[in-house]
Amino acid sequence: MNTNQRVSKVVLAYSGGLDTSVAIKWLQEKYRSEVVTVTIDVGQAENLQEIGDKANALGVMKHYPIDAKKEFVQDYIFPAIRANALYQGKYPLSTALARPLIAKKLVEVARMEGADGISHGCTGKGNDQIRFDVTIKALAPDVKIIAPMREWSMGRDEEVRYARKNKIPIDAKKSIYSIDQNLWGRSIECGPLENPLTEPPEGAFEWTVSPEKAPEKPQYMTIQFEKGIPVGLDGGIKDGVQLIRALNKVAGDHGVGRIDHVEDRIVGIKSREVYECPAALTVLEAHKDLEKIVLTRHELSFKRGIEDQWSFMTYAGLWADPLKKALDAFVNETQKRVNGEVKMKLYRGSAVVVGRSSQYSLYDQNLATYDVSSKFDQSSATGFIELWGLPTRAACNLAERLEKKGE
Ligand code: ARG
Repeated sequence: MNTNQRVSKVVLAYSGGLDTSVAIKWLQEKYRSEVVTVTIDVGQAENLQEIGDKANALGVMKHYPIDAKKEFVQDYIFPAIRANALYQGKYPLSTALARPLIAKKLVEVARMEGADGISHGCTGKGNDQIRFDVTIKALAPDVKIIAPMREWSMGRDEEVRYARKNKIPIDAKKSIYSIDQNLWGRSIECGPLENPLTEPPEGAFEWTVSPEKAPEKPQYMTIQFEKGIPVGLDGGIKDGVQLIRALNKVAGDHGVGRIDHVEDRIVGIKSREVYECPAALTVLEAHKDLEKIVLTRHELSFKRGIEDQWSFMTYAGLWADPLKKALDAFVNETQKRVNGEVKMKLYRGSAVVVGRSSQYSLYDQNLATYDVSSKFDQSSATGFIELWGLPTRAACNLAERLEKKGE
């Protein structure tokens, strides 16, 4: 293998999988680097101890396990809930949200270690490389980014040969899917899913039962919100991490959370994506509903545009851009009154809102009712309609006159 210029110390985001394991050896050989590995726990539910042992066995200088679950929930998932974040109306951004946090942690370790390089296992075709690189470059422009999988020209067979030669353990039961998971969801790609016509095989799913096999009886639950974030489940669980975990379990058991859509990747490729996001879909549904009772129609309609932009910025790796901060400021202002409770019904693949209440509710039953007791003065409607329809009427009348004249 040819050697490049030396990068003396590289901090590598290590998942414990084959690619990043091979990357350890490759960095040591090609860049003659000392490698420091970092595994960031964002709730991916893997055995972190085992991953650390594996890194150490591969001769890394140091391994850092970092528990970032709380920070992930507070600073990434909660803002996403407030922004009703769904990329292209479907994807709750689970993978995308974790990337800037992981990038930030890599930079923190690089600074602590005085490293001159940061490395990650992303390929050159996906979104994740962009999210990592943009954030790392924004926080640490002086550090060299090395993405071995983007640089090495090894195919799968060659990678396995390289692993054997370097005594890197190869997982016998390699999944046909490429999986990325954290508290906010599970992304499933590759294998049979690459054909957009093929229904995802049951084996692709781990967090959700098939709606056909979900319990026959619906389950009700209530989510409490304060300032736009969930703060209680059925009046119990309050801690954010626990709450999201509990929701993933209960909604997943009812077949809620499966997403299948074709998504536009940042690099311009259309890609068939499958996700399981039981907690995310349930909370977002509840949050959107609560906003409808609390916010004015003007706030709601303007916020929708902001939400789309927020989701796009997050998807596109622009978490650190000042515009994202400005959008957050708007969103946070709207969330001051988003307090209350939403009652959800989970049943065979659906999470439906069946009730809501808020101390800041703008809903007034006395106004809304069609009952004669209503305090809404119907006589004022006639004058209102006169003015409301004025521009439409004027335009239609003009069009008709012109048509008659044949113009
Ligand atoms: N399409 C999703 C995104 O861009 C998921 C990416 C999944 N990443 C992976 N390494 N499997 O956020």
